[in-house]
Amino acid sequence: MKLLILFIVFRFAAALVYQQSLIRVESRKMKMMKAGTWDAYHKEKQTLQQSFDDKYQNMNDFDDVEYIANLYIGTPPQAFKFYYDVNSQDFWVTDKSCEKFDSDIPHCPSICYKPGGAVFCNPKCRQNIAKTESDERICIQKAKYDSTKSSTFYHPNEPRENNRDYEFGYIVASFIGEDKIMLEAEAPKFGYLTVRLASFLQAKELSPTFADTPFDGMLGFGPSSFFLSNVNNKLDKPMYTIYINDIDDYNVTGGLITFGDIDKEHCSSEIEYQSTLSQYTFMIYNISFDTSPTEKQAMQIPSEVTVDIARSSIMGPPEIIKSLKEAANANEDGKIDCDAEIKDLSIQVRNENGFKILTIPGKHLKIQNPDGSCNIAFESMPPNSAFLNKWIFGVPWLKSYCNIFSFENEQKIGFSKIIV
Ligand SMILES: *[C@@H]1O[C@H](CO)[C@@H](O)[C@H](O)[C@H]1NC(C)=O
Ligand SMILES: *[C@@H]1O[C@H](CO)[C@@H](O)[C@H](O)[C@H]1NC(C)=O
Repeated sequence: MKLLILFIVFRFAAALVYQQSLIRVESRKMKMMKAGTWDAYHKEKQTLQQSFDDKYQNMNDFDDVEYIANLYIGTPPQAFKFYYDVNSQDFWVTDKSCEKFDSDIPHCPSICYKPGGAVFCNPKCRQNIAKTESDERICIQKAKYDSTKSSTFYHPNEPRENNRDYEFGYIVASFIGEDKIMLEAEAPKFGYLTVRLASFLQAKELSPTFADTPFDGMLGFGPSSFFLSNVNNKLDKPMYTIYINDIDDYNVTGGLITFGDIDKEHCSSEIEYQSTLSQYTFMIYNISFDTSPTEKQAMQIPSEVTVDIARSSIMGPPEIIKSLKEAANANEDGKIDCDAEIKDLSIQVRNENGFKILTIPGKHLKIQNPDGSCNIAFESMPPNSAFLNKWIFGVPWLKSYCNIFSFENEQKIGFSKIIV
């Protein structure tokens, strides 16, 4: 009898961990590089960045997104490709009402009128620039949510406009829908992590920056995430883990997101939680290719880091990035010799037990471009931004350590060794 009870408890406990594949897909940036449209667009983007001020607060940039997951909304379930954002709590999906830029009163956020900003906006907001082919493609490319086909759809309120402005684009939603959502989990056994009534924006307009992005919607797991607070009591532990593997192919499993525990198969159980200033950030004290850093590369003051799965690089203060590029023999644009061996990057952090050096293996810092050239995965923070002295660690970092996001009392981030 005792054994039977134990067995049942064990089975029950095991079901409270859900693991989902993150599929690696071609980013919008890579597609644009192939099409030869990236350089001109990137120039506009840099021009726009010049006009950012310290109000530049959200860091969403969708050009680099290359990990997506399957998410289902409604009954019967409608399937979508989703980008999971570790920094926001946004939740929106492209709606059936998404067609063309046909609104009489277009939503034109202030970026539309800044130098370089027009390409990010509805053709009706940008004088002198005609509609382009990509404007036509956006809605056609996306899977669209149809609330009339869902028996669990619920929206108690009158339709109301709800927009979400990002640094490089925006969405316009006419409804806030509520419906059942399901994340498809493969392990420890096949199942769904379900929220019975989640509320999300139904986007009827996506800015041109969403053309060719590989997702239909976005779900945020950042601080105060609605989704996480709703699944919290269904999980073994209030945490999720991101593990990104070393495979650089497209349309294959590029990593796993594990809700409710660490990923025991790929991550060491020794989690080192970091000292932090704000939710899900951590502090670094110096960063260098050298174990005895030159003064230039070492930091005068500790800096705050945010992890972002939507970035293909390590972003930091322009001065330090410049010296890191030089140390890696990259030119100003970050171009490197594809055969060059890149040294491991040492980063000093501080966890609960004191200072420690963590390492990004050099191989994770090399980006292969579609034209056969290579780049070092370093980028400067935009000038004038509130982020000027901060860092964003993207995919090279996520390939180096398992990243554990705990949301019990405080929202802290921890790292553990990848053990495969
Ligand atoms: C990946 O899948 C997309 C969509 O199905 C397809 O267009 C693309 O060609 C595929 N890429 C590769 C490298 O197989
Ligand atoms: C970082 O700086 C500390 C002291 O400022 C030094 O002890 C340590 O070796 C440095 N680490 C790296 C990786 O440069």
